[in-house]
Amino acid sequence: MLYELQMTNMTKTLTELFIEHSDITDKEQRHRYGNLYDRWLTGHQPMRILELGVTWHGGGCLLCFAKRFPEARVVGVDITDDKIVEEVRNHPNIDIVIGNAYSVGTVSKVEQKYKTFDLIIDDACHAQTEQLTAFHLWQRFLSPSGLYIIEDIDRGHFESLSYHLGYHNDSFQILLGDKRQTNGLPDSIMLGLKRY
Ligand SMILES: C[S@@+](CC[C@H](N)C(=O)[O-])C[C@H]1O[C@@H](n2cnc3c(N)ncnc32)[C@H](O)[C@@H]1O
Repeated sequence: MLYELQMTNMTKTLTELFIEHSDITDKEQRHRYGNLYDRWLTGHQPMRILELGVTWHGGGCLLCFAKRFPEARVVGVDITDDKIVEEVRNHPNIDIVIGNAYSVGTVSKVEQKYKTFDLIIDDACHAQTEQLTAFHLWQRFLSPSGLYIIEDIDRGHFESLSYHLGYHNDSFQILLGDKRQTNGLPDSIMLGLKRY
């Protein structure tokens, strides 16, 4: 009984949380990104997390980060919040900003409240031009040793995206997560840029 209670209170991994909330986030159920997140964040306790593109499935991605990192402030940006479920909308550590993730106006809106993030995730539009725009707009918010993740990159444009993002830039360590063989989806590549 005591053991069961202790297990319930232990912080779950992101993989476990993504599975538990697979009705409101596609991070594990569709893309199998859980173990990449767990591995890349090992030893890190991000205090501020920003995700671009959160609404579609209900905002469960924000809830998983809020549960995994209970001390963190978790901010989501999306053009709409109409599908966000109540548990996410009412969560005290979650903040949703409505706006186009690729516009200077939305950056200013976020900047009025937050100066830096330890983890930034781009899971919004998934087109290369927008992924580059997002990186150029949002990377300055990344704290020292912060991690910037771009989800759902198609193999067809992975090399050029990496090149444009500064594959040879020595201020970032590049992490590559390729889940295409696990789930059979051509765009299940995740790129991490970890600030040195
Ligand atoms: C793949 S879904 C996000 C899934 C979510 N991150 C998760 O893990 O469950 C993509 C989201 O990006 C949003 N989106 C698309 N274009 C956008 C834009 N220009 N600015 C902000 N959000 C955008 C959509 O409304 C949608 O909610």
